[in-house]
Amino acid sequence: MSYFNTIIGKDILIAKNYFEKGEVVGIPTETVYGLAGNALNEDSVLKIFSAKNRPHFDPLIVHVSSKEDIEKYTAEISPKAQVLIEHFMPGPLTILLKRKALIPDLVTSGLDTVAIRIPQHPLTIQLLKSLRFPLAAPSANPFGYISPTTAQHVFEQLHGKIPYILDGGPATVGVESTIVGFEEDTLVVYRLGGVSVEEIEKVAGKVKVNAHSSSNPKAPGMLKSHYAPKKKMIYGSESFLLQNISASEREKKIGIIAFDHYVNGFDEKYQVMLSPKCDLNEAAKNLFAAMRSMDDSEVDIICAVEFPQHGLGRAINDRLKRAAT
Ligand code: TXA
Ligand code: MG
Repeated sequence: MSYFNTIIGKDILIAKNYFEKGEVVGIPTETVYGLAGNALNEDSVLKIFSAKNRPHFDPLIVHVSSKEDIEKYTAEISPKAQVLIEHFMPGPLTILLKRKALIPDLVTSGLDTVAIRIPQHPLTIQLLKSLRFPLAAPSANPFGYISPTTAQHVFEQLHGKIPYILDGGPATVGVESTIVGFEEDTLVVYRLGGVSVEEIEKVAGKVKVNAHSSSNPKAPGMLKSHYAPKKKMIYGSESFLLQNISASEREKKIGIIAFDHYVNGFDEKYQVMLSPKCDLNEAAKNLFAAMRSMDDSEVDIICAVEFPQHGLGRAINDRLKRAAT
């Protein structure tokens, strides 16, 4: 693999030139930063897998800039899928649809569906509109680690491996897109994310949430252990944490990630509230940066307090649970 002097910048022309040469580049989206390459070029797609250290059986999301582009790469859009596209795209929703043959097997891991989404980020939309091909992009983190929500996060982990990171500021949603698909006529959520289950049900009726498979997952984002910091992490309700932190652990520096208040009995110096004003969207936006800074700080153990199980709280709990496994 070649070595690059990685640059962070805001120039979509530079990014475009790299994509046209088959290179991979870090790109901003409203959810998390992606590690993108030409989705129609297998060599570029292979470079994504190797920069990320990601297993090849893990399919990638294809990013496009318009609803017309979705039709270009997918074979069949049911009326229900159409409703979701109308309501949530551009935005933090990914839909699994029957693919057309021009999407390489490497992108879909040989599945007959392709995961497709329109990111809601002005720079990235402009970039996509300037390209003659869509961008395949997983989150721009080494496989299994916490997803990046700033250009600097991408730099910290992938510098030297990619030539350029397009800086679009901090991600505004902060957790990955919600992934949905269809089983017969049933709408299934495979990954909880930036669009809440409630929002989807409002426009599409009852959905089945199947985001908990652990063995043989359809998507490694569904692996039981994922999004994980390097330090030991414990997750649960406040009372669970109070009962399950052992006496010897109590001797150590315990960092706590909480929603809107500190947990009594622990040093506040090592606690972070994701949203003192009790806003789950704000908490989601701050989640991964907080996990990273705790991982890089002097704390020995990271504890995360369970969030309310509604709205984006479900996606937050999902990430925390996997990070702690
Ligand atoms: O918000 C996001 O979705 C971000 C930004 C960069 O767009 N991307 C992202 O990609 O989270 P990634 O690769 O980290 O997670 C995508 C998940 C993976 O778990 C993958 O297995 C699943 O989507 N996936 C992709 N194509 C699939 C398919 N055809 N069927 C089932 N799962 C699929
Ligand atoms: Mg990921």
